[in-house]
Amino acid sequence: MFDTIAPRYEVVNTLMTFGLDRGWRRRTVAGLALAPGSRVLDLACGTGDLVRRLEHEQYVAVGVDVSAGMLAAARVDRSPLLQGDGLRLPFKDAALDGCVSGFALRNFTDLAGTLGEIARVLRPGGRASYLDVDEPTALLLRAANRLWCSTAVPAIGALLSDAAAYRYLPRSYAYLPPRASLLALVAAAGFEDVTHVPLSGGITQLVTATRAGLGLRRPLRSRQQADPA
Ligand SMILES: C[S@@+](CC[C@H](N)C(=O)[O-])C[C@H]1O[C@@H](n2cnc3c(N)ncnc32)[C@H](O)[C@@H]1O
Repeated sequence: MFDTIAPRYEVVNTLMTFGLDRGWRRRTVAGLALAPGSRVLDLACGTGDLVRRLEHEQYVAVGVDVSAGMLAAARVDRSPLLQGDGLRLPFKDAALDGCVSGFALRNFTDLAGTLGEIARVLRPGGRASYLDVDEPTALLLRAANRLWCSTAVPAIGALLSDAAAYRYLPRSYAYLPPRASLLALVAAAGFEDVTHVPLSGGITQLVTATRAGLGLRRPLRSRQQADPA
C-alpha cells in the first residue's frame, strides 16, 4: 500500500492536515531534547519528512522503512535511508541516542516487539519520540475529526493518489491501542519517564520516553509538556 501512495504521499499529508503536520513533526523532533550531533533513527521514515527535520536540527539521522517505494520517493539531504523491518533493526545494542517515528505505530503488526527492538538499539538515557493520530476527548471535535477522516480524507486520496489506501486511514485508528495501554506498552518495552502530549486539540498525540537502564545520561535540552499547536 505504501509503495502505491509514495509519489503523492507528502502532498496528500499537507492537504488532509491543512499543513498542521509540519508543526507536529517539529514537536516530535523537539521531544527528543538531545544534544546536536546525537545519532537518531527515524523508524518507518517513509519519504523522509522527519529525517529532514532531524537534519535541520543538526542530528546525525538514519532512516529505516520497509517500503521500497517510500524510500525511492524520499528526499533527504545527507542521511542514509535503509530498507528494513522495525522488528529487526540493523544496529548493534545501544548504538543510537534517539528514535523518532511518525504515524507508524498503528502500522506495526507487532507493536510490542517493535518497541522492544527500539529499546534494544537505544543507549540507556536515550530518547524516543512517537507521533501518531489520536481521538480528541472533546465530543464536537471528535465528531468533526471522524467525519473529516471518513469522508474528506478518502476523497482527497482518491483524487490525488489511491482511493483504497486512504479508505484504510480511518480504519487504521482501530489498530492503535488506547492511550493507557499504549503508554504501558512503551514502559514495558524498557522506557521510563513516559509522557503523552495531545497536539491540536487531541487529533494527534506525541509520546516521549527515556530508555531506562544504568549509564551516563546526556543532558536534555529541555522538557516540553504544553501544547502550543
Ligand atoms: C503513514 S507512513 C509514515 C511515514 C513517515 N514516518 C511520516 O511521518 O510521514 C507509515 C510508514 O510505516 C512503514 N512501515 C510499516 N510497517 C513497518 C515495519 N514493520 N518496519 C518499517 N517500516 C514500516 C511504511 O512503509 C510507511 O512508510
